[in-house]
Amino acid sequence: MKLFVDSAHVPDIERLAPLGIIDGVTTNPSLLAREQGDPDAILKAICTLVGGPVSAEVVSTEADEMVLEGQRLAGIDPHIVVKVPFGRAGIRACRALTEQGIRVNVTLVFSPAQALLAAKVGAAYVSPFIGRLDDISTSGMELVSQIMDIFDKHEFATEVLVASVRGPLHVVDAAAMGADICTCPAKVIDALFEHPLTDIGLRKFLADWERAQAAKV
Ligand code: G3P
Repeated sequence: MKLFVDSAHVPDIERLAPLGIIDGVTTNPSLLAREQGDPDAILKAICTLVGGPVSAEVVSTEADEMVLEGQRLAGIDPHIVVKVPFGRAGIRACRALTEQGIRVNVTLVFSPAQALLAAKVGAAYVSPFIGRLDDISTSGMELVSQIMDIFDKHEFATEVLVASVRGPLHVVDAAAMGADICTCPAKVIDALFEHPLTDIGLRKFLADWERAQAAKV
């Protein structure tokens, strides 16, 4: 499973990219709005750092405008994937951009029917929002399972990008389910490293080693 960072904060990417575990980045208007500076320059910097797909979302609401904005975003860097919100305009824009060879990530997907429509217009990725479903007592992972089942049966090339991830269990569940990609806030990626027994074990290894060295003196 590919691991993306869900962030527009360049220091997050600078810190995580050297670990060698990051395959791409997703941003959205809310994440970019938190950052200082020119959004296009931020996207370009992220593309240079990660060298993989970087989702940049349109803020237009009409299909024709989404296409123009998507073309502009795609011109920032070859790694840019244009993110469009699910809906009639987004679906039309997805088809038009895909026909021009621009990869599209259809976002704000909350049902298998929406994912099916996105796949039918050639979306490179669909982004089911897991955490926001869990927040309203609906299983986000069940949605991922249903989408994957449909895509498998109909041999859609569209990749399932698990989004709105809130913790390590979402990541593990997505991986166990065979999801193509999981995009995580930096703090969730940090949490994947943590286990108290690893810390306790390392402290003991080092203490034993130091004790043995001291005994030899
Ligand atoms: O990038 C889209 C998605 O991951 C947003 O997550 O936490 O705002 O529901 P969240």
